[in-house]
Amino acid sequence: MLKTILIPLTLLLAAVGVQASEAGYPLDHMEPDVHDQPSLQRGMQTYMNYCMGCHSLQYQRYKRTGDDLGIPDALMLEHLVFDPETKVGDLITNNMSTENAKKWFGAAPPDLTLHNNLKGGPDWIYTYLRTFYADSKRPLGVNNLVFENVGMPHALLDLQGTQNFVCKQVPRLAANGGDMRDSLTNEYITEELCGNELVERGYSPLELIEGSGSLNVAEYDQVVYDLANFLYYMAEPARLERTRVGWYVLLFLAFFYVFAWLLGREYHKAFHK
Ligand code: HEC
Repeated sequence: MLKTILIPLTLLLAAVGVQASEAGYPLDHMEPDVHDQPSLQRGMQTYMNYCMGCHSLQYQRYKRTGDDLGIPDALMLEHLVFDPETKVGDLITNNMSTENAKKWFGAAPPDLTLHNNLKGGPDWIYTYLRTFYADSKRPLGVNNLVFENVGMPHALLDLQGTQNFVCKQVPRLAANGGDMRDSLTNEYITEELCGNELVERGYSPLELIEGSGSLNVAEYDQVVYDLANFLYYMAEPARLERTRVGWYVLLFLAFFYVFAWLLGREYHKAFHK
């Protein structure tokens, strides 16, 4: 009897525990828009250039993706597919062997076709790709705020630049919850906070080395938004169609309701004469 209660309870606690440690850093929100074709096209371009070498999208074909995103077959093959042997009807696979990958990175890069339906959705990827920071203790020299001790290099480093994990001077909190100021000079009274203390107060513990990347912060955020949007589409390409078909179904039900009601009325009459 005790066992039947304890086992599910332990599993539940384990699941909660994993979530808590993973969600240690609050995720930044992004609102996906699968009807924004230019965004999805840019996202695919970034994906093919920076991610495809390691992560396949093996449950999806080039053709279907091109059709959904409004990319003609010829353009797709010319600009987004690097292997001349690949045909437009092929699945989006790569040649990275799991064994080698494990040797190189300590973990194999997972296929990302369905990733956006798992692990926190688009917010997770959006935050993940913006929170890599330099960490000399890690084999690849980087770490990540939402994926501790990650085995992946910062693939978009050239674009974003280097971020350091730092302590910052921030305004001290007054008793009323506002930022504390000096009553004479009206300047903020600051204190130094580090790591989690910064996060709890709503500040990022990361600081970008200015000019170390080729894009500014807004441009980089846009690139990552488009990429997360593309992976959101990828996780369920039928999303585009599903919402459209949904309207027809509702229309049909509304129409059908009238006849079902009329029929019901006839039956009712027959039974309650
Ligand atoms: C050099 C190879 C390499 C490149 C390039 C690369 N990744 Fe990764 N990625 C990995 C490895 C290895 C892991 C597994 C890390 C681990 O488990 O510690 C990973 C993990 C991930 C994960 C987390 C998967 C999970 O466990 O939930 C995501 C999401 C991801 N990569 C997205 C991307 C995106 C998007 C790009 C392109 C901007 C990219 N990666 C480029 C190697 C790579």
